[in-house]
Amino acid sequence: MRVAAIGDLHVQEDSVAPYRELFAEIGNHADVLLLCGDLTNFGKEKEAEILADDIKSSTIPVLGVLGNHDYECGCPDKVCAILHEAGMIVLDEQAHEIDGVGFAGVKGFLGGFGRGELAPFGEPIVKAFVDEAMKEARKLENQLRTLRTDRSVAVLHYSPITATLEGEPQEIFQYLGAQRLAEPIDRFDHVKAVVHGHAHHGTYEGRTPLGKPVYNVAQFVVRPLFGRPYAILEI
Ligand SMILES: [Fe+2]
Ligand SMILES: [Fe+2]
Repeated sequence: MRVAAIGDLHVQEDSVAPYRELFAEIGNHADVLLLCGDLTNFGKEKEAEILADDIKSSTIPVLGVLGNHDYECGCPDKVCAILHEAGMIVLDEQAHEIDGVGFAGVKGFLGGFGRGELAPFGEPIVKAFVDEAMKEARKLENQLRTLRTDRSVAVLHYSPITATLEGEPQEIFQYLGAQRLAEPIDRFDHVKAVVHGHAHHGTYEGRTPLGKPVYNVAQFVVRPLFGRPYAILEI
C-alpha cells in the first residue's frame, strides 16, 4: 500500500480551496492519505469547513488526527464533526483498517524525553499535565491492541522521539512531543511506520528506541526535501 502523509496544513479562513489540487494529485500517487494534525490554523469552524470541502474532492480515503492548533478556539469536537461529515476518518479512540493495513492515531501531547521528561510529582496541575500525555499514549496502545493486521501505521501530531525534532531549538523539544508515545509503538510488531507533524523545523526521519521508522511529515519539513509537501511511504 502506498500511503501519502502530510502534517500542518494550517488552513486559514480566507483560503480558497487551498488543498483541492494537491489532494487530487495525491490521489494519483497513493492509496490512502494521512493528515497529521494542525489541519486548521486556529481551530475555527470556518477553517474546518474550507478543508472539509477539499477533503470531499479526494478520490482516496483520508484519515488523520487533530493537532494543537485545532484546539485553539475551544471547539475541537466541532472541527472533528465537520471533517468527519466530509468523509475524513478522524482517529482518536478507534483504529481503522483499510485493505489489510491498520491505522491507529492520536494527537499525542507534550512532556519531554529522557532526562527532560516531566514526572507526575508534586502539584496537582503537574500531575494533570503528565496524565494527559499518559492518556494519549494509552489511547494509542488500546487502538494498536485491537488491530489484527500484520502491518499498521501510527499517526500522531506530536513526536514520539527527538531525532525528528533536530533542527528545532533543543530547549523546546519537551514541548514538541513525549517519549511516552513511543512505548506503545514499540510494543506491537505490526507497527511498520509512524508519522507525525508539529515540528515545522524538524528532521524528516528518525527511529524509535526499538528501531521503528518515524517520519516528521510537517509540510515545511517535507517540501524542501521532495519538492512536494507530502511524503509517500510503502507499507
Ligand atoms: Fe503546525
Ligand atoms: Fe502543532
